[in-house]
Amino acid sequence: MYVCISMKKSIIILAFLAIAGMPANVSAQKWEGLAETPQMGWNSWNKFGHNISEELIRQQADAMVESGLVDAGYIYLNMDDCWHGDRDADGFVQPNTETFPSGIKALADYVHSKGMKLGIYSDAGRKTCAGRTGSFGHEYQDAIQYARWGIDYLKYDWCSSENINPRGAYALMRDALRAAGRPILFSMCEWGSNKPWEWAAEIGHSWRTTGDITARFAGDPRQRGWGQTVLSIIDQNAPLRKYAGPGHWNDPDMLEVGNGMTVNEDRAHFTMWCMMAAPLILGNDLSKMSAETCAIILNRDVIAIDQDKLGVQGLRFKTENDIEYWFKPLVNGEWAFCILNRSEEPADLEINWQDFNLTDDEVSHLSTSFDQITYTVTDLWNKPAKKARTVTTKKNISVTVPGHDVILYRLTPQTGRK
Ligand code: GLA
Repeated sequence: MYVCISMKKSIIILAFLAIAGMPANVSAQKWEGLAETPQMGWNSWNKFGHNISEELIRQQADAMVESGLVDAGYIYLNMDDCWHGDRDADGFVQPNTETFPSGIKALADYVHSKGMKLGIYSDAGRKTCAGRTGSFGHEYQDAIQYARWGIDYLKYDWCSSENINPRGAYALMRDALRAAGRPILFSMCEWGSNKPWEWAAEIGHSWRTTGDITARFAGDPRQRGWGQTVLSIIDQNAPLRKYAGPGHWNDPDMLEVGNGMTVNEDRAHFTMWCMMAAPLILGNDLSKMSAETCAIILNRDVIAIDQDKLGVQGLRFKTENDIEYWFKPLVNGEWAFCILNRSEEPADLEINWQDFNLTDDEVSHLSTSFDQITYTVTDLWNKPAKKARTVTTKKNISVTVPGHDVILYRLTPQTGRK
């Protein structure tokens, strides 16, 4: 019978594949369901660079719980570059025994006992960006080692990658992670050099879209690609919105909130990352946070904009000199509306909602329809007093947006049409 013959054939083909290895176009799937909303956590690089140790990671884990960050959704605690020692005689990578004397498994157990997940860092080349042991030629072994240790997240960098095919290198590590059997979120970090947004949705859960961020809001990026500012990153990330969605996000790099910018700049930076549905990976010292930093990164109303289940990256609808008007569609017909002031001078603005009738043709196909729907307006950074009158989109609103700052509103449709 035809069916039986074709089954026989497929068994033979499967057996052949198992022996010969899979051809390049047949590969494993990434772990699904790990980033249905953008991942949230902390990473050591922006603040601590090369100087990391198990003591530091434990200290940050404790601070993460005590400050309420874990409850707010920041669950990944990620070691970046420089945890590495050498490979053992069998080729399995080991941590630096001076800085991580108890080993990574013990650290993962500790982090898990606190209700968090542990992330690690490697590189597709022979060396990481700081010159430590990379994964090239050891991808399956490294994935097995991470799984054994209880790792939950891998940031995979792109230094020493000359002559390596990017798509192949990232797919290879995806397959290795899958084969190792432990769900591990795969955060790709090749800085947008090879347009990963065009090919990586089935490989990683997020991909970096730019060179490295610094704690600077505006001004010239220091070099081409590197030393990016908040504004230069927004400009590179904004046009890529159609590539992002549940399970596969544009990553405009980790946060610099609490690392030296002004409070207004930190607030604007955090807000714009939420408007762009970016992974929210904190980069500051969690054990020494000011009240202002806490108020920014723990604002659950703002986090909810980032984490909205519709999973649509916001759109820059209109730019008038240094003022930008952004919209992000949310579930149940709600919208986030943000005004970004790129200049250092405060801006006095009159918002006429009828100027903002728009349809998101590119991604969600939703319309604001201010001409037909009245929305309640909730200010997410300046909570009105309890008895204040409800503000709606029936009337124009006058606002002052401070320099290098934002206004962020949540717009909720009132039931019934106008
Ligand atoms: C690259 C990455 C950074 C960081 C460093 C570590 O520059 O883009 O985010 O991981 O490497 O060396």
